[in-house]
Formats: sequence, C-alpha cells, structure tokens
Amino acid sequence: MEWKIKSWKDYQTAYKNSLENTESFWGNVAETFLWQKKWDKVHSGNLTEANVKWFEGGKLNITENCLDRHLKDRGDKVALLFEPNDPSDQVQKYTYKQLHEAVCKASNMLKAQGVKKGDRVCLYMSMVPELLISVLACARVGAVHSVVFGGFSAEALAGRIEDCGAKLVITNDAGFRGNKTVKLKKICDEALLKKECASVEKVIVHKRVGEEVTMKEGRDLWWHDLFASQSSECKAEVMDSEDDLFILYTSGSTGKPKGIKHTTAGYMIWAAYTFANVFQVEENDLYWCTADIGWITGHSYITYGPLLNGATTTMFEGVPSFPDAGRFWQVVDKHKITHFYTAPTAIRALMGAGADFVLDKDLSSLKVLGSVGEPINEEAWDWYHDLVGKKVCPIVDTWWQTETGGIMISPLAGITKEKASFATYPLPGIEPVLVDEKGDEVVGDPAEGNLCIKRAWPGMLRSIWGDHNRFIETYLSTYKGMYFTGDGARRDEDGKYRITGRVDDVLNVSGHRIGTAEVENAINEHPFVIESAVVGYPHDIKGQGIYAYVIIDEEQAASDIKDEIIGEVNRHIGPIAKPDKIQFVTDLPKTRSGKIMRRILRKIACDETDNLGDTSTLLDPSVVEKIMDGKI
Ligand code: PRX
Repeated sequence: MEWKIKSWKDYQTAYKNSLENTESFWGNVAETFLWQKKWDKVHSGNLTEANVKWFEGGKLNITENCLDRHLKDRGDKVALLFEPNDPSDQVQKYTYKQLHEAVCKASNMLKAQGVKKGDRVCLYMSMVPELLISVLACARVGAVHSVVFGGFSAEALAGRIEDCGAKLVITNDAGFRGNKTVKLKKICDEALLKKECASVEKVIVHKRVGEEVTMKEGRDLWWHDLFASQSSECKAEVMDSEDDLFILYTSGSTGKPKGIKHTTAGYMIWAAYTFANVFQVEENDLYWCTADIGWITGHSYITYGPLLNGATTTMFEGVPSFPDAGRFWQVVDKHKITHFYTAPTAIRALMGAGADFVLDKDLSSLKVLGSVGEPINEEAWDWYHDLVGKKVCPIVDTWWQTETGGIMISPLAGITKEKASFATYPLPGIEPVLVDEKGDEVVGDPAEGNLCIKRAWPGMLRSIWGDHNRFIETYLSTYKGMYFTGDGARRDEDGKYRITGRVDDVLNVSGHRIGTAEVENAINEHPFVIESAVVGYPHDIKGQGIYAYVIIDEEQAASDIKDEIIGEVNRHIGPIAKPDKIQFVTDLPKTRSGKIMRRILRKIACDETDNLGDTSTLLDPSVVEKIMDGKI
C-alpha cells in the first residue's frame, strides 16, 4: 500500500498533499480497493451547502473489500478472534474464508426473510460473533444496519426502531455480561409491543445463553433454524458510493437521539485509511479493541477498519472487571495481543484496582496502546504508559466522534512524538481550526477555542436520518462553512491539539455520550417531578458523573423517590444514564425570561462556587444560596 505512512516525513508529505491535491490524494488511496465500477468524481459538494459526496458514480460493496478481497492471500488467516465472557468458555476463531462463508449464509438468511437493498435492519445484540456477522450481512445485501447498544432500554430501542422504520430485528435470547445476563429478547419483546414498532415484520433470535424466551408465531424465528441450511455463496449487492451503509444513534444537546447516517465509499476509505495509519498493524499482529459494536468505535475499529486491512480483530464479550480486574491483561497475555485499544474510563477503573492485576501478567507482546472516547487525564495516561506499556509502547490518543466516521486527530503509532493527554495532530485530509465565540478563527499557537473542521473529509456523516435540516442546524450552521464538533480544544506552541471536552449540553459518562435533555425528560416523567435540570461534574472513574437537580411536588416533598427517579431513567434510556447524585430543590436559578442558568448549576455541582460569574440576570438570586446549602 503506497499510501501507508511509515515516517514523520511521510506524514508531513501526505498531510500537505491531502489538502493541496485532495482529489488525486484520495483517488490514489481508493485505487487500492475493489470497485465494481470506478468513480466519476473523487469529491464534490461542500459544507456550506451540506451536499458532500465522495467517489460519486462508483459502484462497490464494502464486504467484498472486507472479505472477498483477502481470500486469495489471507483465506486461512484468522479474521475474527472471539474471547467469551467466561474465561473458561470456548474461544472461537473465524478465518477470512470462514467469516466470508458465515457472512454469505447470514446474507442469504436475510434475503430469505425478504430483506432488500435500502431496508433498515436493527441489531440489538450482545458482543458475539453473530453481531459482527450480521453487520456485514446487512452491508452485503445492501440493507442499512442500525446497531442499538444492548444496554439501552425497551423504550430507547423502540424509539430508534421507529425513527429508522426497521423491517427486521436481530437479537439474542440474552447476553452474558460479567456475572449477569441481559435479557435482550425480553426487552425486545417489550419494545415491539409498542405501536412505534409497527414496521418490524420479523425478529431473528440468536441463542447465546439458553434463556427461556417467548417466540411470537409468524414473527420470531431462531437463527439456528435459518442459518445452517443457507448457501455459503452470496453475490454482493452493487452499491453506489453514496448509498447508505448504516445509521447509528447518538445523543445531542437537545431532543431525541439523532440517527447519524454514513454512506458506503467515503466511510470505507476513511475507516481503512485511519486504521492502517494510526495503529500501524502489521500482517502477523493481533489487534484488540475493547469497545462494543453498539458504538461507533466498534463499527469502525472492531469491524470495518481491521477487516478492510486484512488484520485479525478480537471481539470480547465480557467486562473488564470479570472475573476480576485483571481480565484485560489476562486476555492480552493469553492471546499475545499486540495492539490494544480501550477507553480512559476502563483505565481509571483498573488503575484503582491496583498494580498487582497487571504485574502478574506477561504483557510483552504489546506494541501499541490506544485510547478513545473521552479526554485521558495525565495520571491515567502515565499509568497506561508505564505499567501496561512498560514505557515502550506508543499511546495513540484518538479523538473523533460518531459523526466523523473515524479518527480525526491522533498520533500515528511510533511515528508522532506523543505528549500525555494530547491527541496531537490531524490526520491527512483533516483541517481543524479553533474559533472564538464570535466565530472568528483563532490563529497562532498556543490557542484555545471551539473545535471546528474546515473542509469535508471522506468519512463524515452525510445527514441525520430523516432530518436533513437538523443536520445542517446542528453541525453546519453555528460557524459558517465549517463543521462544528461540539468540543473545546487547546493547541500548544507546537500545534498539538488537546481536546478539553464538550462545550454543549452533552455529557460524556464513562465514554458514553448522553444528552442532558434526554435525562431531564426521563426524570420529568415521574408523576411527582415538576422540573429538573441535569449537569455533569468531574468523576474519578467515569470522567463525568450525572448531577440532577429536581423539583418535586410540595405535597410529596417528604417522600424519598430517588430510586423511583432512577427507575424512570432506566426505563426511558437505560442504566448508562443513571444519575449519580440527585438533589431535591425548591427552585432552579432562572433568568427573567425563564431560562435555566445551567452555568451556575454546573459550578455548584463541580464545587466551583468561589466565582459563580454574573448572576445579575437571575430572577431570584437567593435560589442559588439555597441550592448551595443543599449540595450533595
Ligand atoms: O467529546 C469528544 C469525546 O467523545 C465525543 C464523541 O462521542 P461519540 O460520538 O460517542 O464517539 C466516541 C468514540 C469516538 C467527542 O465529541 N472524545 C472522543 N475521543 C476523545 C474525546 N475527547 C477527548 N479525547 C479523545 N481522544
């Protein structure tokens, strides 16, 4: 691959070239992939008009690039390594040949159920090989996959099914998660009872746990009844470059979750290019990303990125704390993992468990460590670097988002000189800028501001499913002609970027993105609740914790309904959005126009009450004192 960056000089040349000769740069990368028909134009459209296109006129199928393309040279190489929840259970391995066969069978299974190009298929599954196989099967038949993380509630699942109008759902009877099981089919049944899910015609259930489930006649089918008899050949559907590949829901600062829409060719090139260059995985390496396929990291860096590069990808069913806090390191030791990619929240949690869990394992196989999902604090970075990486493994702190499709700012392993807690430099094709509140670009280094991207890149989202206007408003309107990330950042004197966190009402709790408005809406569903306001505060392990200020009906003021409020959040969103602290208040600080001053609530939750800033616009400043007195 002549586009693989091997040195700092290569990076500098590629970066410059990508901005100056954009079309030939990405055209050269795309040449190395399998096309049924070459593109007519590498790039057209722009951010101002929200009409970005890449490789227009091209025809391809991403799964031919993930699988078929490797059969000749890597047919017997392990494509997928599955590490089960219980360390004593069977490890599963799929070679590229076997994965190709399994994906073809699953594709034929979907086709037999009437799934066609453009149909939406919802995957609500645990981390088993059949999830990755289902993702690729959808892509092979041209169906748009919408994976919903197995930790979301029935109501959250129903909302996502309704929004994309899914025709078919694939789930498990239940999933293993540490010492618990998650009753996925039961939750799915509850969701499908709702009228919002009328679009669903069929449910395919893959048996993982052996949980007793109810199968609805005419709707529910067992995976094992359908799968085995399918042919292991399935011609891949011909897709246009800009045909939809997947939808993935994520939280914003307002309203319900947004269905982020990614299309085929641009996403493919971006996932492949960024994986190869950031991680620098070589032919015999063993790569493991600990994310769940329910999040974008699992899409781009468990599924598509590694397979597009012919790498071996590891899928882990369990959790870092089961059977004990040494599990990650035990898995690294057992399989001789070379590349390990995880989230700061996991690092902080394992750090807290003590060094012994790490020190008694042989981690000498490790070459590269990665971090994703939230800012990594220096203490966690140092622990990861010194104790896990033995001071020799480079750490790639990768900044990106569901919307960006793949990594945007990151060191390239072994190439970029890293700096603790800095995502460092942009990848080729990415032109980041910092802007001030007025929308003016902050020039020179060092600098600080809101992080925007100045030009379109192949992996960017193309729209929000069913709501193109919201797409324009959310990302492309705040700063004219630029993509606004929602993050704040600093640039040091060498031009290295450090991401400081969200500047909008989006929280990042254990690397999970949660909208404060969603949590408030859930809390407000409790019949005693009159109003609520949710903010984030620093949390040692989760990065951010959820602090909820809640006004309840005066007559009920004496009752303890904290558990019930948490129950509402579980019901409407899922346990990942559970408030860590709930403070009952009699009033919220509001401006004369009735707007809640979240800035003040945030400061109180963060114990930063020395300087509350300007409170003169408050309708009743005494409210603040009262809230401070009741601080938890
Ligand atoms: O705030 C940034 C944070 O995660 C947000 C994106 O969340 P999501 O779409 O769920 O994708 C997570 C996985 C890519 C960003 O707006 N974030 C992600 N990576 C980093 C980060 N913050 C700091 N440093 C990172 N490396």
